[in-house]
Amino acid sequence: MTTPAEIPASPPGSPHRAEPASRYSRTAMILHWLIAVGIIGNVALALSVDLLPDDWIRPVIDTHKSIGITVLGLVLLRILWRAGHRPPPLPKAFPAWERASAHAAHLLLYVLMIGLPLSGWLHDSAWKDAATHPLVLFHLVPWPRFSSVMNLDPAFKEHLHDVFGAVHTWFGYVLYAVLALHIGGALKHELIDRESVLRRMLP
Ligand code: HEM
Ligand code: HEM
Repeated sequence: MTTPAEIPASPPGSPHRAEPASRYSRTAMILHWLIAVGIIGNVALALSVDLLPDDWIRPVIDTHKSIGITVLGLVLLRILWRAGHRPPPLPKAFPAWERASAHAAHLLLYVLMIGLPLSGWLHDSAWKDAATHPLVLFHLVPWPRFSSVMNLDPAFKEHLHDVFGAVHTWFGYVLYAVLALHIGGALKHELIDRESVLRRMLP
């Protein structure tokens, strides 16, 4: 992946000097906001499960799984897209520590965008009732589980179910912290520094 820091500087006054873009492209924006809505919606669904009547739990968890797998697909598209496109460089006025933390937060968000759905999918594949409850995304698209996990010895599978469940939960905790920094950073630039980065991600 290219990073803003790798953007080559053309000599000033060069006839071929191209100003770097100051905003994300339309594709990057659409993918960013679809994934953000999917992830935040999925956290809301998962955390509301304990408050819901019993007969809502299964459909809500099934919807959570469907959204999660869809997010995984969108994230793979986003990574492919990102590998071939430079993000706009951050404003030069930002101190080095702010640029470094923004890049670190973005990298961690990419890890979580993959890690959350993948750990959920593995957790679900190790579920003892998986064979009798096929995964069908949005009641429309039959979706596989990891057969290498489904076919394990039941006791070991139960252990893995707990382990993947704990990993899924802990990825969730890390996500809350990194998102607080990510959203807090965007709002700080917007409201305190008055140097909008939000505009770069909005049409
Ligand atoms: C956008 C991706 C996803 C996010 C952000 C997400 C987030 C969460 C969160 C925050 C919880 C609550 C954890 C807790 O408090 O213990 C949860 C639970 C759960 N997730 Fe996900 N998840 C995602 C994708 C998936 C996928 C793809 C699957 C399965 C195919 C899945 C299956 C589950 C299950 C079964 C639970 C209930 C765990 C339990 O209590 O046994 N998740 N998820
Ligand atoms: C789960 C939710 C979210 C995830 C996973 C996420 C992830 C990311 C990632 C990875 C980037 C870097 C893009 C790249 O260079 O490839 C980014 C950029 C950005 N995000 Fe989010 N984001 C989320 C939610 C939000 C929200 C709610 C806001 C609004 C406050 C926001 C505002 C921005 C802005 C303004 C940028 C551009 C930053 C810059 O100019 O470098 N994001 N986001």
